[in-house]
Amino acid sequence: SWTTGSVIEEQVAAIREQVGNRRAICGLSGGVDSAVAAALVQKAIGSQLTCVYVDHGLMRKGETEQVEKDFVAATGVQLKVVDAEERFLKALAGVSDPEAKRKIIGREFIRVFEQAQAEIVAEAPGDQPVEFLVQGTLYPDVVESGGGTGTANIKSHHNVGGLPEDLEFKLIEPLRKLFKDEVRMVGQELGLPEEIVQRQPFPGPGLGIRIVGEVTKERLDLLREADAIAREELTAAGLDRDIWQCPVVLLADVRSVGVQGDGRTYGHPIVLRPVSSEDAMTADWSRLPYDVLARISTRITNEVADVNRVVLDVTSKPPGTIEWE
Ligand code: XMP
Repeated sequence: SWTTGSVIEEQVAAIREQVGNRRAICGLSGGVDSAVAAALVQKAIGSQLTCVYVDHGLMRKGETEQVEKDFVAATGVQLKVVDAEERFLKALAGVSDPEAKRKIIGREFIRVFEQAQAEIVAEAPGDQPVEFLVQGTLYPDVVESGGGTGTANIKSHHNVGGLPEDLEFKLIEPLRKLFKDEVRMVGQELGLPEEIVQRQPFPGPGLGIRIVGEVTKERLDLLREADAIAREELTAAGLDRDIWQCPVVLLADVRSVGVQGDGRTYGHPIVLRPVSSEDAMTADWSRLPYDVLARISTRITNEVADVNRVVLDVTSKPPGTIEWE
């Protein structure tokens, strides 16, 4: 029968066997999945693992600092932070198609990992080769990217269907058979702190798939502000554990007329997408208290320039997916 203890033992043995005395890198995203995958692999191979955090410029406010602080403090893992904002924004310039964005982001992640691999080898040239890439791929990611049995490809998850064909790494994916709640149990068993284990899901492609339209630095900054307000108010209202997650989406290609002060505005809508779910395979829209929605709406329209409307997504999954892209 399934126990977190047996999953950990099994995976630790399998990883040791697979890696031997060679080395691995693990992409850390700040989310639960990559954190648990990293902790598991660290348990198996210790200092043969280096974690790589790619700051692609698509993160939410404060997220990079949080990863640097929380995860390293919790695990003592070796961490390499790569500032890749320019590279990602350049690759995404002019692209609005959701699948195209996902493929580009998946590809750029791998290119950055390859660069990190070369740097790690250069820093300690006598050591064993860095051959493995650890990813926190979960069972639903595999299924929804078309890797399951007979399922259609819904979205290319950045770490599954978004991988380039000429991938040089051997993959280690210790969570490939698990659902999110099981991953949280494994994380807890491994001693990761509550703030990491209970963190709400956030997609690897980040805010890049929460801007409907082209991704630009200005739009990202705007969305970061709106998202930070929504998260702040949800936390203040004590709702974090009641919802699965709440994507905040910028409809960058849409404008609507508004009025503010004594002038007409012509700004962008922000969509709130609070959902309740067990495993992200299906979801329902969360019935958030009206006063909380009102506070978020008032603050976003007052504090975020160029946003003059906040709308609520009341679609379940299916037919909608959780993310808009
Ligand atoms: P959807 O939008 O497919 O999302 O209903 C299901 C869950 O997966 C997250 N998500 C991703 N996570 N890489 C990730 O690590 C991705 O490419 C990705 N796409 C969606 C989403 O936030 C939700 O929790």
